[in-house]
Amino acid sequence: MQLEKQNRPANLPDSQTVNLVEHWTDRLFSFRITRPSSLRFRSGEFVMIGLFKDDKKPLLRAYSIASPSWDDELEFYSIKVQDGPLTSRLQYIQPGDEIILRPKPVGTLVHDALLPGKRIWFFSTGTGIAPFASLVRDPQTYEDYEQVILTHTCRDVNELAYGERLVAQVKDDALIGELARERLIYYPTTTRESSTKMGRITTLLEEGNLFKDLEITDFSAQNDRAMVCGSIGLNTDMKRIFATFQMYEGANSSPAQYVVEKAFVG
Ligand code: A2P
Repeated sequence: MQLEKQNRPANLPDSQTVNLVEHWTDRLFSFRITRPSSLRFRSGEFVMIGLFKDDKKPLLRAYSIASPSWDDELEFYSIKVQDGPLTSRLQYIQPGDEIILRPKPVGTLVHDALLPGKRIWFFSTGTGIAPFASLVRDPQTYEDYEQVILTHTCRDVNELAYGERLVAQVKDDALIGELARERLIYYPTTTRESSTKMGRITTLLEEGNLFKDLEITDFSAQNDRAMVCGSIGLNTDMKRIFATFQMYEGANSSPAQYVVEKAFVG
């Protein structure tokens, strides 16, 4: 796995060093790499990362940056696809290995794509929590909104562990902990293993249980803002639900009530 610096062909994308790898389940892992000092990004954006193939060509996939924009390192949260071209190999990285990073951050899950509001919802499934792991660690989220609601739906209970630790750390953080304890609400659900809250978030929303659990009346197009990241099915279903509340999709160039991005798998 180690990429020998002296063998690296010229004109290749930047490579960065792996500092930490954590395996959460047999399907999920996260890792932290060095951050090029020149890389600036907005919390919620993604970059291309990857490895060199045997023919020395880079194999890159889009990954949301899970660390906030102020962090010294870059964190990523990934699925392991056993026959996936990239993650079948990426899951074996170790501290000290090098991986490729193309330092051109992009993405729609950014504060700039939303109109000002009072409450922000981060709806995620699976590894779709990654951009929100960045945003819930960003002080701007708490400056911009009075309430921040992070929902995370996974198949099984053990797949919630990354999000659980994230939220605990944010609430314990010296800088944003006090605001986060007051403003951040975490709403984890599972669909295939029994837990305290079961069901797809779309079902919980449409049947009114989400609002009932959080003691919220409804979405208000004036005050509620949302970001969605997960499977294509989740994104399509959430768009349909937002439309019933007269909430519309925004972009950097035309901010509105919500933005959507699919979680990337490779
Ligand atoms: P389900 O178990 O009912 O398919 P995955 O691990 O496949 O990425 O899925 C992560 C979570 O997203 C699962 O709990 C899954 O529920 C849920 N999910 C999949 N499709 C949708 C959808 N269209 N709307 C809401 N949740 C979904």
